[in-house]
Amino acid sequence: MTEIVLPSYANALGTVFGGQVAAWIDIAAGVAAMRHARNIVVTASMDDLHFVAPAHVGEIVVLQAHVNRVFTTSMEVGVRVEAENPLTGERRHTATAYLTFVALDAAGQRIAVPPLLPESEAERRRYQQAEQRRIWRLERRQMRDSEE
Ligand SMILES: CC(C)(COP(=O)(O)OP(=O)(O)OC[C@H]1O[C@@H](n2cnc3c(N)ncnc32)[C@H](O)[C@@H]1OP(=O)(O)O)[C@@H](O)C(=O)NCCC(=O)NCCS
Repeated sequence: MTEIVLPSYANALGTVFGGQVAAWIDIAAGVAAMRHARNIVVTASMDDLHFVAPAHVGEIVVLQAHVNRVFTTSMEVGVRVEAENPLTGERRHTATAYLTFVALDAAGQRIAVPPLLPESEAERRRYQQAEQRRIWRLERRQMRDSEE
């Protein structure tokens, strides 16, 4: 997915708002999740959202979303965000995030997601790493629930 950083998306320094980038990440990841599941999906969580460099007004923002792993009714999607200089094509990494989506049927009930078969080395690496992230994520969810 590509976007351009318009002045209305920027702060006083001329760099994009983090919340705007988070919204684009949610959309890019949601499209990847829907395309895999071919179903309605909702965002259950967004974690590890790190802004490592700013994107400036006039730059192109390129978001690449990958379904990393399917669990049962949920799946993890990773998003890498880069800023591209439109004149030179030079790109730099600006943000990364991991999101979990849950598939729902028309009645709003959770529904199983088709399995994902990793094929390339990169896909297998993402698949394996997703398992550990899921463990940490669910531990944090449990801690949060016990504090409520
Ligand atoms: C996401 C939602 C459907 C999960 O419902 P729930 O009753 O908590 O479901 P469960 O605890 O049975 O979990 C269902 C699946 O989601 C996963 N999950 C639930 N909460 C999660 C979280 N915070 N982070 C990661 N995964 C989560 C579970 O691990 C489980 O996965 P699995 O079936 O693949 O093993 C529900 O919390 C919800 O509707 N949230 C609001 C969604 C929303 O409005 N999003 C923003 C706009 S799209």
